[in-house]
Amino acid sequence: MNMLWVAPVMPDYDSARATFSWRRERSRLAGLPGGGVNIGYEAVDRHLRDGHGDRPALRCIARDGSLRTVSYARLAEDSSRVAHVLETLGVGRGERVFTLLGRRYELYATVLGTLRAGRVVCPLFTAFGPEPVALRMELGNARAVVTTRELYERKVAPVRSRLPHLRHVLLIDPGDDPPSDTLSFPALTAAASDTYTVGQTDPADLALLHFTSGTTGTPKGAMHVHEAVLAHHVTAAYALDLHEGDVFWCTADPGWVTGMSYGIIAPLTHGVTTVVDEGDFAPGRWYDILADQHVTVWYTAPTALRMLMRAAPRDGSLPAERHDLSSLRFVASVGEPLNPEAVHWGREALGLPVHDTWWQTETGAIMIANFAADPVRPGSMGRPMPGVEAAVLACGEDGRVAVVGGHVRVVGEPDVQGELALRAGWPSMFRGYLHEPQRYESCFADGWYLTGDLVSRDADGWFWFVGRADDVIKSAGHLIGPFEVESALMEHPAVAEAGVIGRPDPLAGAIVKAFVLLRPEYPPSAELRRDLIAFARRRLGPAVAPREVGFVDTLPHTRSGKVMRRLLRARELGLPEGDVSTLEAPEPAGTAGAPGPSGK
Ligand code: WT7
Repeated sequence: MNMLWVAPVMPDYDSARATFSWRRERSRLAGLPGGGVNIGYEAVDRHLRDGHGDRPALRCIARDGSLRTVSYARLAEDSSRVAHVLETLGVGRGERVFTLLGRRYELYATVLGTLRAGRVVCPLFTAFGPEPVALRMELGNARAVVTTRELYERKVAPVRSRLPHLRHVLLIDPGDDPPSDTLSFPALTAAASDTYTVGQTDPADLALLHFTSGTTGTPKGAMHVHEAVLAHHVTAAYALDLHEGDVFWCTADPGWVTGMSYGIIAPLTHGVTTVVDEGDFAPGRWYDILADQHVTVWYTAPTALRMLMRAAPRDGSLPAERHDLSSLRFVASVGEPLNPEAVHWGREALGLPVHDTWWQTETGAIMIANFAADPVRPGSMGRPMPGVEAAVLACGEDGRVAVVGGHVRVVGEPDVQGELALRAGWPSMFRGYLHEPQRYESCFADGWYLTGDLVSRDADGWFWFVGRADDVIKSAGHLIGPFEVESALMEHPAVAEAGVIGRPDPLAGAIVKAFVLLRPEYPPSAELRRDLIAFARRRLGPAVAPREVGFVDTLPHTRSGKVMRRLLRARELGLPEGDVSTLEAPEPAGTAGAPGPSGK
């Protein structure tokens, strides 16, 4: 029985793919005693059942540097308390519990307690401002939120009147004289029982809600179900090389899907120890964590790697010479293109190549990776995971997948660009966008899920990332919807219209740049520019707000009235303007070319 959760000895790629079937892989899950699957049970209860409750589940590093090790048994107790609190408060099965928390122990207890209780978890990013928080809580019908007093006062209290369905606010640090209409998480959990029996959970029951950004309209709420845990578990073995006894560190923020699938769920299902670092990025501290915690498997992002590369000491010494990184066995990256330089840097500086992995909020788990058992091909995302069928689909004139008579064309010849598509049906595939069945439908054609990424595939079957097919901006690993930023800017009295693009940036991949058309009574000035940036930061938070604002006399529109962001970007970067046949009436003379600043 205990052998089940030990990752298999890695066969080579081809035989792993040839013999793989999701149905057979199901035997790797514990499953609920009465049948059914529950993510929380796989992450926590199964280890107690197998007599491994005393193993270290989490090693939490607080901001003050203090360290706390939490066993699987303790995690079971504390998540049990949360499960009881939710039941006592009357949060129903299937209802949404939001977290607005950094990477700290209470987050783990809350997420696992909520999942074990069959309630739905929706994590939010703490760097969001009140607007993104309110919008997502409205869309997601938040019943309860667990957060800190500070985050509540800054980000939830100002918008709470818009959230009538938000019944319970649980503060993990209520302090003296807590804000009215809030509850004390420590008091409630302390009073609750520390044993909880996971109830019947269907593999297709909703478990997680992750908001992701699109080009238009509101953020998309990607819905994931309990059986996704099978993909979390299996991909962590194949693509991240997780084995029994590993110390795993995933640096992703818990507000995004990586922080959930691989920061919380996957490593716990493997019974390994996860490092939970509450602090912010700082090169010296990060190397200390790798060394002091004896991290064996490290999952991080290109932005972080680029920052580490920049932080190299002047004396030319390498991190592996200054810190004892001898425990480190495997390093992987996700979220943005991994430059070949970063792979080479890893070899030299850490003594290990960096393995790329590709996936999305919608895919729920890693789909394409430079496999653990294979030599890394620098610059390539790798090959599809066992159980994943990936293809390059031919695109039409408009750059979107060409569907003829209900059918798509899979590009057979190597090195041709097209849209990356995945054959629908893997366990962690999202099961819908909240409230938007049509938006969901439009992601599929002819049995394929269309990813919105442009790629090519080489003759050996490795996939290479080309770019996104849409206007969504990827900054420091996070998707930013231009529409959300434009909408916030337009609430400023000076703004008549705005168009938002990503401008390439050596560290963040891209930064958010807004082109703003001012109302006539507001002359452009450096002060107004600063004011607009501050206004956007207050509403949206620093992660989403534009870093640059340019004033323009006109914005290019399609005939249907949408801002042509593609054209704004082409002009900003001095690229060919491409197909402008849908451009509205020609713009007034003197505005062609780069959308340069008017006035200052
Ligand atoms: C988009 C998905 C990956 C989970 C967390 C982010 C880009 C992701 C890679 C990679 C190049 C990548 C794609 C994708 N992306 N991984 N290895 N190389 N680009 O999920 O926020 O839904 O973002 O991130 O454009 O579509 P997400």
